[in-house]
Amino acid sequence: MKILILGVNGFIGNSLAARILEEKDWEIYGMDIRNDKLEGCIGNKNFHFVEGDISINKEWIEYHVKKCDVVMPLVAIATPATYVREPLKVFELDFEENLAIVRLCVKYKKRLIFPSTSEVYGMCPDKEFNEDESPLVLGPIRKQRWIYSASKQLLDRVIWAYGFQRGLKFTLFRPFNWIGPKLDELTSDPEKEGSSRVVTQFISSLFLSEPIRLVDGGMQRRCFTYVDDGIECLIKIIEDRDGRLNGEIFNIGNPENEATIKDLAHKLRELFMNHPSTKHYKKHSEIIEVYSKEFYGEGYQDIDFRVPSIKKAKEMIGWEPKVDLDTALRKTLEYYLESNLK
Ligand code: UGA
Repeated sequence: MKILILGVNGFIGNSLAARILEEKDWEIYGMDIRNDKLEGCIGNKNFHFVEGDISINKEWIEYHVKKCDVVMPLVAIATPATYVREPLKVFELDFEENLAIVRLCVKYKKRLIFPSTSEVYGMCPDKEFNEDESPLVLGPIRKQRWIYSASKQLLDRVIWAYGFQRGLKFTLFRPFNWIGPKLDELTSDPEKEGSSRVVTQFISSLFLSEPIRLVDGGMQRRCFTYVDDGIECLIKIIEDRDGRLNGEIFNIGNPENEATIKDLAHKLRELFMNHPSTKHYKKHSEIIEVYSKEFYGEGYQDIDFRVPSIKKAKEMIGWEPKVDLDTALRKTLEYYLESNLK
């Protein structure tokens, strides 16, 4: 099997590629604007990498869509601060550029495995979000945060319509707050505040002995999923030989790993402080509260809770997550501690 992974250096891409090369004899053709997370892949005979940009290197992409059996376009902006600050950039990359790839899959009749997002459910009131039943509830237009969710939702609908009207073979997956090594870069630049996802944002603050900031009190909840669990599910989706998963949408999350953002801050701080390598830290981060208006800007609106139903993934894919929250946080933090000490 030949797989095209666009955005192969990203958080999901690099981890997926490394696991495929370890366990399967599949060939990977990958493109990304960077290659700093691919040390385990480059040099492997089944890994063919080119540095490039999906908005520029269109000929390379078309040629490789034609050549491969499965296409996974993983290029997207996925940080809420950017949804608020640069909504057009999110629309152009996450929607427009990806739509062009979807259309190539239609043209060359290739199987598409596409990342939707937990964000499409928005402020859905359901206790557990169900792929085929739950309503998708977004806020007003002036709340720019929803541009990511709306872009992804429309693309989900367009992909669905291509399946319905033109026979496109596709599977959509919705990651729920995946965490793990190489999630985002740590930042010490105040200009980039809020530019990574919450776990890496908190780890950056811990390294700098700066306050950990809870947006609007930190009582909002998320279900954190360890990346290895998510990747295992993705590999099973790619493996679908008889087309049973065609036209289906799957939540990939861990409903058992629910925590408030405040709990998350306390857990991470404790893990950090108790780690042998941080003994020399004289000052530890305080945990403080900030208003979202100041942290993200007026265009922000939050999601109070978000629990995936994974019944469908269990039944149709035979998958369920294994890594509990404390282990997931410890492994994520250890990666950053180790790479920071190098
Ligand atoms: C994320 C992003 O949209 C995407 O990465 C992705 O599509 C999706 O969710 C997912 O991974 O499932 P969200 O969970 O809101 O959205 O993003 P985070 O930046 O990780 O924030 C989580 C919560 O922590 C939010 O309520 C946010 O307000 C809060 N937060 C974030 C803080 O309290 N302090 C911070 O420093 C950063």
